[in-house]
Amino acid sequence: MEELQKKRMLSGIQPSGDLHLGNYLGAIKNWADRVNDYECFYFMADLHTITVRQDPAELRKRSINQLAQYIACGLDPEQNVLFLQSHVPAHSQLAWVLNCYTMFGELSRMTQFKDKSAKYENNINAGLFTYPVLMAADILLYQPDYVPVGEDQKQHVEICRDIAQRFNSIYGDVFKIPEPLIAKTGARIYGLSTPGDKMSKSVPDGCVFLMDSPDDIRRKFKRAVTDSDRENCVRYDKENKPGVANLMNIYATLTGKTIPEIEAEFAGQGYGVFKPAVGEAVVEALRPIREEAERLMKDKAYLNEVYLKGAEKASYVANKTLRKVYKKVGFYQI
Ligand code: TRP
Repeated sequence: MEELQKKRMLSGIQPSGDLHLGNYLGAIKNWADRVNDYECFYFMADLHTITVRQDPAELRKRSINQLAQYIACGLDPEQNVLFLQSHVPAHSQLAWVLNCYTMFGELSRMTQFKDKSAKYENNINAGLFTYPVLMAADILLYQPDYVPVGEDQKQHVEICRDIAQRFNSIYGDVFKIPEPLIAKTGARIYGLSTPGDKMSKSVPDGCVFLMDSPDDIRRKFKRAVTDSDRENCVRYDKENKPGVANLMNIYATLTGKTIPEIEAEFAGQGYGVFKPAVGEAVVEALRPIREEAERLMKDKAYLNEVYLKGAEKASYVANKTLRKVYKKVGFYQI
């Protein structure tokens, strides 16, 4: 009779770089597809970005432009709650409380902290260290069932569960214990010039940005690294031909074709035909997204309205959890 309560999902992306094909195929595209089955909250984690030094003007610009790009990728703001983390103060407020229920030792073991403190050795700030606590607050405020993340964020969801369990064991059932959801298909898109590494904005040559022009996209695919054995054959062999496998995955995800179908399609044709074909499929897939994002980016009033409404809806849910937490730990309420 009545509609079953939908399961809730929440995830965030840092607006620390321009969105690229890896973000789209690995995350955003899947997010847009699940709107009918789940109640979804997605936010830009701007608080997290300043753990690494940011250019303020760039951060401000990306925080609004990325909202346009998310919507253009198919995330409907009427059906999903889209918001900016810093617009919902409860994130910072709960993070402080959770800091007092997180151990120095467990934070020092986080691989991202170790990696980032090696990379940014002149700015090993306390925020970088307590980054997972803020992320735990992001999640626990909304009592989600699932947290879709990339493999690299799995450890952060695990520490979130540990913190929640610790808190619950002292105060009773305050937080729902969320499950990480690691995407399978298209989950990992590798760099076109460095197929051993995840596609990343820090290697712009091998990174296809959502806002790239068709010519830029074609050029990047023409130069994509294939394999070193010069076999010149479109065959799926992730071990020995990671570049070719990556291109095949991209093509499969965009066209819905299977790997054997793709091998058959390009049998006897070599990379000279295959690489531009993948490039063209990407150009066509990204064209409507780019055009719609460009249109939306000019409509600041609309985007502001989306952020405002999103923050309102998010705050309503988040504040409910925060009030409960404040009460449990003994903060005097009026
Ligand atoms: N740390 C995540 C990343 O860099 C972004 C993020 C912040 C997040 N808060 C989150 C993801 C909460 C999922 C849930 O990718």
